[in-house]
Amino acid sequence: MTRIAMLGTGAMGSRMATRLLEDGFGLTVYNRTAARSRPLLEQGAQPADSPREAVCEADVVISMVADDPASRAVWLDSETGAIEGMRDGALAVESSTLTAGWARQLAAELGQRGVRFVDAPVVGSRPQAEAGALIYLAGGEACDVDELRPVLEPMAAVVHHLGAVGNGMLMKLAVNAWFGIQVAALGEVLGMIEHSDVELARAIEIFGDLPVTSPALKAVADQIGQRSFQPMFPVELVEKDFRYLLETARDLSAGTPVGETVHDLFRRAAEKGYAGDNISGVAQLFL
Ligand SMILES: NC(=O)c1ccc[n+]([C@@H]2O[C@H](COP(=O)([O-])OP(=O)(O)OC[C@H]3O[C@@H](n4cnc5c(N)ncnc54)[C@H](OP(=O)(O)O)[C@@H]3O)[C@@H](O)[C@H]2O)c1
Repeated sequence: MTRIAMLGTGAMGSRMATRLLEDGFGLTVYNRTAARSRPLLEQGAQPADSPREAVCEADVVISMVADDPASRAVWLDSETGAIEGMRDGALAVESSTLTAGWARQLAAELGQRGVRFVDAPVVGSRPQAEAGALIYLAGGEACDVDELRPVLEPMAAVVHHLGAVGNGMLMKLAVNAWFGIQVAALGEVLGMIEHSDVELARAIEIFGDLPVTSPALKAVADQIGQRSFQPMFPVELVEKDFRYLLETARDLSAGTPVGETVHDLFRRAAEKGYAGDNISGVAQLFL
């Protein structure tokens, strides 16, 4: 039986771990704040006190942590990092949303120790993680991605392979930018309507019926109308993703004028106290 280690059991990692347990995989979990893993232990996961301890029997190690520094900590920390504990032939997987540059650097560090690496970030939020309906965007050797497919299957609607290591991250940052740009623009136009004598609820209804409004944007418009910003994909993570998009685009010498403006909006929203609100909360800058 394939044995998995999950490093990071936050909002996404814990839901992904539950899917793996429900599918019958043996699972060891590590989380920096141990208490956050407790519900998974009740579901049958084994606890570990460090990433290194978590990975010693694993065939596949999946990391689902906040950002590049968190990823560096769980894989490469000189005392507790997973890298020194991995079994020969084990496969390392990064599912966090990180810079493409870091994914390539990490692959090189792991490669020097003979560990194979796939970057496999996910599109979809907490409901999709819970339902096993995440869209995986993978970068790495085709044979490694194929070996990983049965492990991703209980968590995935589909697994796209996009070529070399780093390309999964690049595509994920592009997808999030595409969504974040639209959310910020919607917030701006709804804010303008709110300042007029056109009724906001009526405008949201009309927007919702337009062919240019996707189901995801319609949901965002409804949240803005109801001033209901319970987090699924919080502003602080959106800000991080735009920051990483800009860094990744700079490495490619690609222009990102819209991305820069929208990054600034999410940064301002976080500074104004909306960091923990859902992505739609950026609209509060305009209401
Ligand atoms: N939420 C979404 O809708 C969504 C969707 C797709 C992808 N993502 C991406 O998935 C990743 C996880 O997101 P999430 O929503 O699960 O975030 P989250 O609930 O905030 O969880 C973050 C995880 O990272 C850990 N962590 C943070 N800093 C660390 C460090 N320095 N060392 C070790 N562990 C550290 C946290 O540990 P503690 O519990 O100790 O803080 C926690 O396990 C992020 O990269 C995010 O961009 C999120």
